[in-house]
Amino acid sequence: MYLEHFGLTEPPFSLTPDTGYFFSYGHYADALNTLLVALKTGEGFIKVTGEVGTGKTLLCRKLLNILDDGFVTAYIPNPMVTPYGLLTAVAEELGINIDRHYGHHQLLKMISGRLIQSMAEGKRVVLCMDEAQAMPIETLESLRLLTNLETEKSKLLQVVLFAQPELNDKLNREEIRQLKQRITFSYTLAPIDKTGMSSYVSHRLMTAGYQGGELFSTPALHDLYKASRGIPRLINILSHKAMLVGYGKGEHMVTPAHVQVAVKDTEDAQLRPHLQPLKLKDLMQGGIWVALSLTLAALAGALVQSA
Ligand SMILES: Nc1ncnc2c1ncn2[C@@H]1O[C@H](COP(=O)(O)OP(=O)(O)OP(=O)(O)O)[C@@H](O)[C@H]1O
Ligand SMILES: [Mg+2]
Repeated sequence: MYLEHFGLTEPPFSLTPDTGYFFSYGHYADALNTLLVALKTGEGFIKVTGEVGTGKTLLCRKLLNILDDGFVTAYIPNPMVTPYGLLTAVAEELGINIDRHYGHHQLLKMISGRLIQSMAEGKRVVLCMDEAQAMPIETLESLRLLTNLETEKSKLLQVVLFAQPELNDKLNREEIRQLKQRITFSYTLAPIDKTGMSSYVSHRLMTAGYQGGELFSTPALHDLYKASRGIPRLINILSHKAMLVGYGKGEHMVTPAHVQVAVKDTEDAQLRPHLQPLKLKDLMQGGIWVALSLTLAALAGALVQSA
């Protein structure tokens, strides 16, 4: 009903990182190109950080989608594993048949064999790890050891870490300072700017089959930006809720009133009032009040003394 009401073929603001919705604007296009270039030039360790909900998982999936036949890819969505668990996951991703009795050393040997084989076939192997901030320190260290596998000329394994900024705190720890040095390429994914956000909203609506005119009024977009701070996940949550409110009222355009209801219902969103910069006039007025209060206090003191 909701879809029909707005003339959509599917929900436009779903929270799953669907690459069909990838918005290749500004820094998203930039991030993707940067990653492609870095991987093609053989960078060993690449790091992409961004606040919660800024689009790291989607970027990671998009990257995996567009890497051509020249690459063999391995994707580890949840690296909260032991060093042994990491090796097992990498081996499985590379299509190695593993026996559960294999020890650490044997696993490493098989992975190394597969990497050498891929290189001989003229392919680069890329390991993408999402949520890398959750990796235990020992596992980060064993990841570094994994990238030690190299020929005289190039790395056998390239790694891209996608992580929330807490990864940087981990990398500052003494025990893994060697890993930090290995990261030759870093990219920070920022939230979307205001102009970008309007295009982002239209892009998602159009991808979901919308063909009508402006669906979000300009003031509604303004409030949406203020409340979401340009963070795609929040934009999606708020847009979806605002459209539901509009639908509930039988309206075809999303207005600030709808956005406000959505904001009230969303934990991390806030329509903060503008803080006006203090003007000299206000300070002067403040000064007069202070002077008056002091005079009154002095008078009161004098009265008490004379009594
Ligand atoms: N470039 C983009 N184009 C289209 N949609 C995007 C883009 N970036 C993010 N989104 C959307 O925003 C939402 C959050 O994105 P994603 O899950 O990738 O964020 P994240 O940075 O991985 O978050 P977390 O830190 O919680 O893991 C998803 O619904 C995703 O589809
Ligand atoms: Mg994610």
